[in-house]
Amino acid sequence: MASLIITIDGPAASGKSTVARLLAEKLAATFLDTGAMYRAVTLAAIQAGVDLSDEEKLLDVLDNRNFQFAGKKSKMTVCIDGVDVTELIREPKVTANARHIASAARLRAKLVQMQRQFAAGEEKLVTEGRDQGTVAFSNADIKFFLTAETGERAKRRQAELQAKGISESLEQIQRAIEERDKSDQSRAVGPLKPANDAIVVDTTNLSIEQVVEKLFGYVEENA
Ligand code: DC
Repeated sequence: MASLIITIDGPAASGKSTVARLLAEKLAATFLDTGAMYRAVTLAAIQAGVDLSDEEKLLDVLDNRNFQFAGKKSKMTVCIDGVDVTELIREPKVTANARHIASAARLRAKLVQMQRQFAAGEEKLVTEGRDQGTVAFSNADIKFFLTAETGERAKRRQAELQAKGISESLEQIQRAIEERDKSDQSRAVGPLKPANDAIVVDTTNLSIEQVVEKLFGYVEENA
C-alpha cells in the first residue's frame, strides 16, 4: 500500500485534474485520473455498440477488453487492447455518455478495486475523481474537495476546448456542466460529495498555481 495517499474530488471542470497532476509532480508522487477509467469503459462500450444502460453488457466489456492505466509521473496513458486511447476518451461523445457507466453499481465496485490495486503498487499517490475520499480511499492521509462556481467552470472548460480548436457557446457548456453535476450528485452509488474529513477549497477566484500552492502547503504541514 502507498505510504501517502492524497485524494482530490470535485465536480466537472473544477480544475482538479490539472491540480492533481501538478501536485503529484511537486510531491514526486504518481497521479491517478479515475475519470479516465470511466471514460475508457465508456469508449469501449460505444465501440462495441452495447446498450449503455445494460450493466451486464458493460461488465462484459470491462472483463473482455484489456484496459491499461499507466500513471507514471504526471501523465496518465490509457490503452484498450494495446491501443493508446488517451486522447480519444476526451471526445465530447464519451464525456456525454460516461454518466451511464458512472451509475452502474457493480462496475463502479470493480473500478474502485482496480484503483486500490493501482495504489498498492505506488509509493505516493495523488488520485482524483468523485468518490476517492468517500469510497475508494476513505482512509486517505489527506483529502481535498475542489469546488468553483458553475459560470467559472464553464469559462475554464470553454478555454480548454478553444485550445483544442473546438468552439462551443458558454451557455451550452454551462448547461452540460449543470447536467453532469446533477447526475454526479444524485447517483445512488459513489455520488459526488465531500468526505466528512475533506478540506474544501473554493477555486473560483484562484489560479491553478495558487490552488496547487495552497494544497502543497497543506500537505507539507500535515503529511
Ligand atoms: O472527471 P471526468 O470528467 O474525466 O469524469 C468522467 C466521468 O466519470 C464523469 O461522468 C464522472 C465519472 N467519474 C465517477 O463517477 N467517479 C470517479 N471517481 C471519476 C469519474
